[in-house]
Amino acid sequence: MAKRTIVTLPGDGIGNIVLNQTLRVLDAAGFEGDYIHGDIGWEFWCKEGNPLPQRTLDLIRKHKTALFGAITSKPNEEARAELNPDLQGKGYVYSSPIVGLRQKFNLDICVRPCKSYKGNPLNFIRKGKGNTFEEPVIDVVIFRQNTECLYSGVEWTNPPELVYKALMSHPKFVENFGGVPVEEISVSTRIFTKRATERILIAAFDYAEKYGYSSVTVCEKPNVIRETSGLMWRLAKEIQKSSYPGIKLLNTNIDAQMMWLTKNPEDYGVIVAGNMFGDIASDAFAGLIGGLGFACSAQFSADGIAVFEPTHGSAPKYADYEIPIVNPIAMIESACMMLDYLDEKSISVKIRRAVAEIILEGKTRTYDMMKMTGSQEVVKNGAASTIQMTDAIISKIR
Ligand code: NAI
Ligand code: MG
Repeated sequence: MAKRTIVTLPGDGIGNIVLNQTLRVLDAAGFEGDYIHGDIGWEFWCKEGNPLPQRTLDLIRKHKTALFGAITSKPNEEARAELNPDLQGKGYVYSSPIVGLRQKFNLDICVRPCKSYKGNPLNFIRKGKGNTFEEPVIDVVIFRQNTECLYSGVEWTNPPELVYKALMSHPKFVENFGGVPVEEISVSTRIFTKRATERILIAAFDYAEKYGYSSVTVCEKPNVIRETSGLMWRLAKEIQKSSYPGIKLLNTNIDAQMMWLTKNPEDYGVIVAGNMFGDIASDAFAGLIGGLGFACSAQFSADGIAVFEPTHGSAPKYADYEIPIVNPIAMIESACMMLDYLDEKSISVKIRRAVAEIILEGKTRTYDMMKMTGSQEVVKNGAASTIQMTDAIISKIR
């Protein structure tokens, strides 16, 4: 097997911890990675005024596949104050390197699987008949359009004249907001393009086909947000009809989906949504399978760049513990997504099987799995440390 070159981006806080442990798991499972470190995060903001240096972008552009831990973001004032004194007052403005990565590489497809592991005490349970409890098996994969919608940054408070004029050309705007002073108006635009919407839909259908899911559910709100959600729903019907007739196409509204979240989560397979609703739906489903310690993700561009990362952030309050306590599984799962993408399925299967065995066995649990409040004491009180959890998983790799 040829060695694969992977850019590792540990970032800040627990990003370093979980990424390092994940590399141990990859090694133990026989993955031959050539890891090249990329600088990213708070340290480089403070030192260089740029949390996502050009050299890191060049590395990712060259090697195409990256494993990313997490970064720390802080509000503008704090960011300015922590900037190296030599750089202060020179017009540096902090912006999140995650958003930066998405924009620079147009990582428009975000995939967030939410699958429950048997035996995870954090799994969602609901009341059944009589005094019984049901623990539905959840296997949902959310496809979130990652670059458009309400997160594109096209927004104004007190919109400039041209924009205001354009808004006033819409009868609904005149009717509802025509009497409001322009300086009291804030607008965030929800832009969907046909090309990006088609890409996320096709990615969702392809995945359903490849991994045997029987349905794709569009989770938007086309009955009200007619132009953008409407576009996604129209395109979904066309694409299903022309190319994926064997896969059922379902339609849920985001609000109703959240209401049904706990009623019948086992009925959903692949879910596809725009940026905002995809963000909401993926966090919601992740909550049913154990939360941030289990939520993994991947982001892809049209030209072959792929970044794999846990959904959680840098959890600064746990970053400097002498014995790290955070759950490494979200990062390990993200690495498994990378292995699938690299066609190293035999290795990802081994790792996932090991994780499943450890969770089912129930002897090794990080503090989150024991429903403890995170502190330096949790290991003394019976929780596994990050390293103990990793060791346990490694011990089950065969
Ligand atoms: P966070 O995800 O870092 O932590 C929230 C809480 O979730 C933690 O206090 C901890 O209790 C729990 N948690 C997170 N990861 C865990 C794990 N692996 N195992 C067990 N428990 C875990 O989010 P927070 O506190 O809102 O943000 C901290 C920093 O991270 C901020 O600077 C924020 O901007 C950044 N952030 C970065 C993200 C990324 O790099 N993708 C995503 C979210 C936040
Ligand atoms: Mg989120």
